[in-house]
Amino acid sequence: MKCIRSEIIGWGHYLPAKVLTNDDLSKMVDTNDEWISTRTGIKVRHIAEGETTADLSVKASQMALKRAGLDIKDIDLIVTGTLTPDNTTPSVSAKISGMMGARLGIPTFDVAAACSGFAYALTVADNMIRLGQVKTALVIGAETLSNVVDWTDRNTCVLFGDGAGAVVLRAKEGDGTSQDTGILSTKLYSDGSQYNSLYVSGGVATTKTAGFVVMNGKEVFKFAVGALSEASEWVMQDAGVSVEDVDWLLPHQANIRIIEGVGHKLGMPEEKVIVTVDHHGNTSAASIPLALSESMESGKIKKGDLVVISAMGAGFTWGGILVRI
Ligand code: ACO
Repeated sequence: MKCIRSEIIGWGHYLPAKVLTNDDLSKMVDTNDEWISTRTGIKVRHIAEGETTADLSVKASQMALKRAGLDIKDIDLIVTGTLTPDNTTPSVSAKISGMMGARLGIPTFDVAAACSGFAYALTVADNMIRLGQVKTALVIGAETLSNVVDWTDRNTCVLFGDGAGAVVLRAKEGDGTSQDTGILSTKLYSDGSQYNSLYVSGGVATTKTAGFVVMNGKEVFKFAVGALSEASEWVMQDAGVSVEDVDWLLPHQANIRIIEGVGHKLGMPEEKVIVTVDHHGNTSAASIPLALSESMESGKIKKGDLVVISAMGAGFTWGGILVRI
């Protein structure tokens, strides 16, 4: 049956210039390259200096618009997944719309779902497109996590990085089959009983400060493998496709051992799993659009490929998206 699909017609990403290596970190806290590499797979991460989350977002969005062959005035909606907005309010999306000169009156808002922020934002934009409320959406995942990392805590400071990724989604008529291009299935979850397993310790209504990342690493690890696998399986089943039909698994880039665990659980061959955590670190809501854009730009992910995206983060929140590029 004919239906509206949200097709990815543009992709972009941006990483701040400063690179922080594991050796650099070993001069800041009691750690070393061997520990970080074997436990996390991370080698380097980028750190924003003098650039805000909105600045990174604008750069990623400019690239996405260019790839789409569109102007900012063609955009009907801007939605950003982030946990590091420039200000408590208004949203980063509102700031981006002003900085880029978006059409006056278009809806702009942020989604707060931590590392699942981009998956949540993409799902909301997809639903607005399929309802016919908007035709063309700019969906961003962007973070300056370096602002909420305690650089004296070796348990957490080695994990995170800054960056931004963006996609342009456009409404397109599909046949209602898994051969359509565009988003084929989405599924979001949360479990508030895990609120204290991973959080940033500040807040407007509590400390009146931004705070720092606090994490029960073992609990997050255990939960993440199951959650990312569950979300991936759900969207594949919903769209009537099997693991063999899928070209790429693109999980949230938190830790190589989590990524490998998910690939193994799903029975996905290693060469079909996208990995960027080695050179991005964990960039929270930016991790998926960064990895997607980088892989599309390099020609690794091609037009027509079927991609399973899965995300998991604080909340806990998690979710899956099946998309044919
Ligand atoms: N360098 C050297 N030693 C370290 C470091 C470090 N950076 N950090 C911790 N250690 C030490 C610990 O103090 C501990 O020492 P002890 O045995 O003397 O007490 C030892 O290393 C082992 O620590 P564990 O916590 O047992 O190490 P583990 O193997 O569990 O790995 C890690 C820790 C990497 C954090 C792991 O639990 C993990 O990957 N968890 C997932 C967390 C994650 O990815 N979070 C990202 C945010 S959530 C998300 O994006 C979904």
